[in-house]
Amino acid sequence: MKNLHVTTTINGDAAEFVCEPDETLLDALRNRLGLTGAKEGCGTGDCGACSVTLNGRLVCSCLVLAAEAEGAEVATIEGMADGDQLHPLQRVFIEKAALQCGVCTPGILVAAKALLEKNPDPSESEIRYWLAGNLCRCTGYDKIIRAVQDAAAEMRSA
Ligand code: FES
Ligand code: FES
Repeated sequence: MKNLHVTTTINGDAAEFVCEPDETLLDALRNRLGLTGAKEGCGTGDCGACSVTLNGRLVCSCLVLAAEAEGAEVATIEGMADGDQLHPLQRVFIEKAALQCGVCTPGILVAAKALLEKNPDPSESEIRYWLAGNLCRCTGYDKIIRAVQDAAAEMRSA
């Protein structure tokens, strides 16, 4: 198959890469661009570990073709901190011990940030429903939900 040349924007910076026509965005991010924050937990859209946003929409990058990034805006976990300044969600996750192995964490943080951009004051149920597609196999969900609630409160009062 003939390789494709993709020109895109990733975390606000212009980027380009060459990929195979059937290559996933997740593989292109990890293997071609060195952005290894998004993880492959399943490769079938079931775990959310590969979550990124594409033109502001939360997606599983394992289900998106790399070629779909052409002309689009992609945001990954690597763009979440502002230089040395962690995003409040990242900081509170550390402070509240809302992660253990960390494999699910980039996807959960990207998903939680997308939620708070839509709804800065979500209820516990709304957070649980929003993150239902992000599986965690070691921390347990209570700490994760509480960390999102605490970060949301902090962001509202900032
Ligand atoms: S790796 Fe994409 S949803 Fe699991
Ligand atoms: S922290 Fe290990 S899977 Fe969530």
